[in-house]
Amino acid sequence: MKSLRVQMIVLSQALVLLACLPIAFGGLWLSRRELEEELSHRLIGLAQAYAAHLEMTHDAGRLERLQADSVATHGRLKAEMTTFRDATGLGRVRVVDKQLRVLVDTNSADTIMPAFDLEPERLEIDHVLQAGTATTSLRFEAEDGTLMQRGFAVLRSDGQVVGAVVAEGSAPFFEGLRDFALMVGIFLVVMLLSVAALTYRFSRRLTVPLGRLLSVTQRLEEGALETVVPSLGTNEVGDLARAIERMRAALAARDTQTQMLLAGIAHEVRNPLSGMELFVGLLEEDLRGDPIAHEKVERVRRELDYLKRVVEEFLAYSRNVRASTVRFGGRELLLEVAESCSCVAQAAGVRVVVQPAQIELTADREMLRGAVANVVLNAIQASSAGSVVRLELQQEGSFRVVEVVDGGRGMSAEVLSRANQPFFTTREKGTGLGLALAQKVAERHGGRLSVASTEGVGTTVRFSLPFDLAVPLAVEDAATSLGPDWIG
Ligand SMILES: Nc1ncnc2c1ncn2[C@@H]1O[C@H](COP(=O)(O)OP(=O)(O)OP(=O)(O)O)[C@@H](O)[C@H]1O
Ligand SMILES: [Mg+2]
Repeated sequence: MKSLRVQMIVLSQALVLLACLPIAFGGLWLSRRELEEELSHRLIGLAQAYAAHLEMTHDAGRLERLQADSVATHGRLKAEMTTFRDATGLGRVRVVDKQLRVLVDTNSADTIMPAFDLEPERLEIDHVLQAGTATTSLRFEAEDGTLMQRGFAVLRSDGQVVGAVVAEGSAPFFEGLRDFALMVGIFLVVMLLSVAALTYRFSRRLTVPLGRLLSVTQRLEEGALETVVPSLGTNEVGDLARAIERMRAALAARDTQTQMLLAGIAHEVRNPLSGMELFVGLLEEDLRGDPIAHEKVERVRRELDYLKRVVEEFLAYSRNVRASTVRFGGRELLLEVAESCSCVAQAAGVRVVVQPAQIELTADREMLRGAVANVVLNAIQASSAGSVVRLELQQEGSFRVVEVVDGGRGMSAEVLSRANQPFFTTREKGTGLGLALAQKVAERHGGRLSVASTEGVGTTVRFSLPFDLAVPLAVEDAATSLGPDWIG
C-alpha cells in the first residue's frame, strides 16, 4: 500500500520536473542570451559612439603619436573620456593603438603601456582592426567579482584604422538573472512540495479504502466469512469492494451449506455409533470367558470411542451457537480447566500451574472452558514428564488474555502454519479440531487466538478476548472453592 503511495508521489514529481525543467532552463537560457546580446550591442554602440566622437573632434591620427610628455593633451582627453565613462555608466574606457598599447585610460595614469589584459583576445582584436568592424570580448570577472565585458570599435584617421576604443562595462542585470534563477528554483521546490502534498492526499483516497479492503480480505482469508466487506464509494475501488462482498456472501452461504451437510452426516453417524457402543458392551459381557475374543472386542470399543470423539468434536465445531456472555473470575475458570485435565496431566507427569492473580473475563463460560481445556490438553500432550504447563491471565487495554504456556516440543514452521486448520493433526488419534475450535471460540467472542511456538523450546497459545464491565456477573460457581494455586 505504501509502495503505491510512494510510486504515485515519485511519478507526480517526475512529471513536474519533466514539465517544468525544460521551461525553467529554456527561459533562463533565452533571457541570458537576450541580455548578453543587449550588453554586447550596448558596449559596441558606446565604443563606436566614442570612436566617432574622437574622429570628429580630434585628429585621431595624432593619438598614435601621443607621448608621455604631451601631458596637457593627455589630461584633457582623459578628463573627457572620464566624463563619457561616468555619463554612460561604463566601468572603463581606453584608447589603444594598433599594437594594443594603451594611449589613454580613464582608470590609470599610465600611458603608452601595453594592455596586458587584452593579450588573450589579441587575435579577435587584430581581426577587428584589420576588418575595421566592431566586436565584444568574452565576459570576465573583475577583481570585485562583478561580471564585465568589453566592446571594441575601430578608430580611423583619414580612412585608415589607427587604433581602437575599448569600452568596458559591467553586466548588473546578470545579478538579476541570478535572482531570476533563484526564483525559478524556489518556484520549482514549491511546485514539487505542493504536487507531493496533493498527490499524497489523492493517494490516500485510493490507499485508505484499499487498506480497509486488504484487512477485510485478510480476515476472510483467515476464515472469518461473516466479516462484511464495507461499501467503499462508487469508483473502481467501490466496485471491487462490492464484487468481494458478493464473493464473500456466496462463500459464506456455501460454507454454511457444507457445514450443515457435514453436521447432518455427523448427526446421522452418532446414532448408530451409540447403538454399536451398546452392543459392544453386551458382546464384552458375553465374551468375558474368552480373553482373545474379549481383547478384539476391546479394540473395537477403543476405535468406537475415537470415532465418537471425532463426531462429538466435529459437531461442537460446526454448531453455530451464539455465545451467551457473562462476567466471571478468570482464575476460577483456569482452576476448573486444570482440574478437568489433572488425570491426563498426572498420567503424563506434567504439572499444570495456575497463576494466582485474579482477573475478570467476559465470555461464554462453558464455551471458553472447553476451548482452553483443548489447548491445555495439547500442551500436556506436547510436554515431557516433569515439565510444567502454566495458565496465566493478563490485561491488555480493553482486552483480557488467557495464556497457556508450555515448555514442550514446540512446532516446526510448517506445523505452526497449519495448526489452526480444522482436521490438521500430527497425532495418530487426534481429530485436528482442538485448536480450530479454540480459534472459533475466540472469534465468536470478537477476540483472537494466537499461537507462538519454537521447535524444541515450547508453545504459547493466547486467547485475546474483549472485556466489557457492563456485562452482568455470572452466578458464583463451585470452582471458587478450589483452594490450591496449582493442580497437577
Ligand atoms: N502445545 C503444542 N505443542 C506442540 N504442538 C502442538 C501444540 N498444540 C497443537 N500442536 C500441534 O497442532 C496440531 C493440531 O492441534 P489440535 O489440537 O487442533 O489437534 P490435535 O491435538 O492433533 O487433535 P485433537 O485436539 O482433536 O485431539 C497437533 O496435532 C500438534 O501437532
Ligand atoms: Mg488437541
